Order: sequence, then structure tokens, then C-alpha cells
Amino acid sequence: MAVETGIRIVEEDDSGIDKAFRADVLAGLSQRQKAIPARWFYDERGSQLFEDITQQPEYYPTRAETEILSTRGAEFAALTGAGRAVVEFGSGSSVKTPHLLRAISPGAYVPIDISGEFLRESAAALSVRFPGLPVFPVEADFTKPVALPDEVQGMAMLGFFPGSTIGNLVPRTAVDLLRSMRETLGPDSQLLIGMDRIKDESVLEAAYDDAAGVTAQFNRNLLTRINRELGGDIPVDAFEHLARWNDLIARIEMHLRATRDVAFTVAGRRFTMKAGETIHTENSHKYDPRSSAALLLAGGWTPLADWTDADGRFSLILAEASEYRMAP
Ligand code: TRP
Repeated sequence: MAVETGIRIVEEDDSGIDKAFRADVLAGLSQRQKAIPARWFYDERGSQLFEDITQQPEYYPTRAETEILSTRGAEFAALTGAGRAVVEFGSGSSVKTPHLLRAISPGAYVPIDISGEFLRESAAALSVRFPGLPVFPVEADFTKPVALPDEVQGMAMLGFFPGSTIGNLVPRTAVDLLRSMRETLGPDSQLLIGMDRIKDESVLEAAYDDAAGVTAQFNRNLLTRINRELGGDIPVDAFEHLARWNDLIARIEMHLRATRDVAFTVAGRRFTMKAGETIHTENSHKYDPRSSAALLLAGGWTPLADWTDADGRFSLILAEASEYRMAP
């Protein structure tokens, strides 16, 4: 049976279990390094906790990126020119967008999000704030190429992908996404993308392990969700939140670590974990100027300029669609 949730179409079996969720969890728990895809964090409680994370004093990316957006508008405008259609990937509540729209005199705004309800509400709110700006929301999964509305065909496009969300993808998937965005936006387009910087390990680990324990709750909520939705009996209290810096790959990894030997059942299947064993639940890759350039180039984008906040913690990079031609 298919059920419309407002987030996505959910395929359920006869007992009302989300098949994709069950398949991901069972496959992930069967691996030697157990892992669960991060997209399952975001049930109602998870989405609320995520909002709370961005308000924590240790979680600097949201504030650092907003600082850049609100102070460097004139420089963006000089490079983008006026009249572009701003296409935002995973627009959510569009909180960061007004800074950009105010700065560059866009021709239109196209928010793309998989959650239709959220999308329409925030598009409506934005239209009120920018009365002259045509807004064309598109409900779609932006990980695949998206057909843009007829009204913006022929306009030059500016993709907007803030939040260092690109860093939640492993490089192979990140490159697929960048290429897909290039496909969506077309040959004369530009992309303004947030990419968090490599920095002191203690600052990074604190950002993903705040003193108030909100990120820890967010991580453990995944187990609570599995127990509730997949008929599990995971002893949630036997798992601790772990945020650790993987220096070779330059990423923060979030894990759930068993504090004692545990045995549990999920959807009728039995699993055991030894004390100290972990379930890997999220990655957040960090970049330096060269590694961010390499990733963008691999995805078909040529960097034009980048800006960082005053403390050098976060960068916004403007890139243009690379021409596909004979190299060099
Ligand atoms: N892209 C952001 C980041 O990596 C947001 C994010 C995704 C996040 N998953 C998270 C933040 C888990 C904290 C915890 O920072």
C-alpha cells in the first residue's frame, strides 16, 4: 500500500511497515561495520532535534554561513549579474535565501524540495517578503535531474546549495549530485555552494557533540524510531553518541557505540553487538580550498570565487558550469 506522508510516498507492507526503512536497517545492521543511512534520522522528533542542533553554541556552521550571506551580497551580485533564476536545492524553510535574493536582483526563485507541504508554506512566505519576485516551487527529489518550470526556461540559472549538505555525501555520491545539478541548471549556470572547512579537531568534535546533548539525542532517536516503526527491542540506553574526526578522509563521523554486549531483534531478525562496536550513522566531510575545488571540478563546476566568515570556519563558493570540451 502507498501512503502519502507529506515527506514522501511510503510503500508499506500488510502490517504497515515502511519497506524501504526496513530494508535499509536490516541490510545496514548485517554489515561488518554496521551503518544506517542518515536520511532515516528525520522523523518528526528528529527534524525538531535537528533544528535545535543548529541553535547550539558549539554548532557554528549555520551562524558562519549566515554571516557570509548577509555581508558579502555586493560581491555575489558583481559576479552573478542581475536577472538569474535562483534554484535552491532542498530549500526546506528557505531561512538563508532572503539574504541572497536581496543581494542579487534575481529574475525568479525556484525552491526545490521533496516535502511539498513545507515547500508551499515557505514559498508563500517568501512571496510576501519579495512581492515583485516570481516564485515557482518544484516538489521533487533533487538527487536526480529536475525539470525546471517553463517560466524560467531561457533565464540564466544560479543554483544555491547552502548548509554544507554536500559534505553529508561521500565523494562518489557528492560528484553524482553535482553532475546532476549541472544537468538541471544547464550550460550557462552558476552554483553558490556552502562547504564547511577543515579546522581544529576539538572545534569540529564539539560541533557534533554539544554539551547540552542535543546531537546525542538526535543520534539515539534513530534507535527509538527503529524500535517504534520496525518492532525492535534495541536497548537504547546501551548506546552512546560518538562524534569522531577521521583525519585521512577529513570528515566527522557520527556513530552509536554499544557500551556493553547487546542482543536485540528488529523486524524479526536477531542481531548482536560486542561492547565498543558501533553503528555508523552520519558523515560530515570538511574541505580546504584545494579539496573543495577538486570536488567541484569532478562534478563539472569551475570555481570562480570563494568567501569565508571572519573566523575562517566556513566557505561559500561560487562556481560556473564547466564547458565540456577537449582538455586541456
Ligand atoms: N550538513 C550539516 C552538517 O553536516 C547538517 C547536518 C547533517 C548535521 N546531519 C547532521 C548536523 C547531524 C549535526 C548532526 O553539519
